[in-house]
Amino acid sequence: MPELPSFAGLVVHGHKRGRILGFPTANIAVDSGGETIEDGVFSCWAKVPDMAGLVGATVSVGRNPTFDDVTERRVEAYLHDLDAMLYGMRIAFFVVHRLRDTMRFATVADLIDQTARDVERSRRLLEEERPNL
Ligand SMILES: Cc1cc2nc3c(=O)[nH]c(=O)nc-3n(C[C@H](O)[C@H](O)[C@H](O)COP(=O)(O)O)c2cc1C
Repeated sequence: MPELPSFAGLVVHGHKRGRILGFPTANIAVDSGGETIEDGVFSCWAKVPDMAGLVGATVSVGRNPTFDDVTERRVEAYLHDLDAMLYGMRIAFFVVHRLRDTMRFATVADLIDQTARDVERSRRLLEEERPNL
């Protein structure tokens, strides 16, 4: 899918809050294509090594402004229906849709609600655009 913006990088350790929030994310140390994506929340197809086909993902790019201890830009991917050890793997992402801007939420509960809506919408959009791979 060369016409879509894409980026890739290794899965590294984050703050480990994702699991507590209900959306465990793979933190991506982007080594290619990072300049092509601005901050926001995106719907992507992901290529995970040793896995056939593509996995749907909802990806957050930004400084997680809800949390004051995040100072650098982060790329965090919630991979749909995938509970696997991904640390050290290099994952490639193909952006299908930009869902929204990154926001600062007043409460963590608000962030969780919005993330659940993002993932639901992302799944629907990806289902409509499943590539023939
Ligand atoms: C789909 C999705 C959307 C997100 N949107 C936001 C957002 O708008 N604002 C924000 O501060 N953090 C957002 N986050 C990031 C969460 O704050 C982050 O995943 C959480 O802090 C866990 O980070 P950790 O893996 O470093 O522990 C989003 C995460 C996901 C998966």
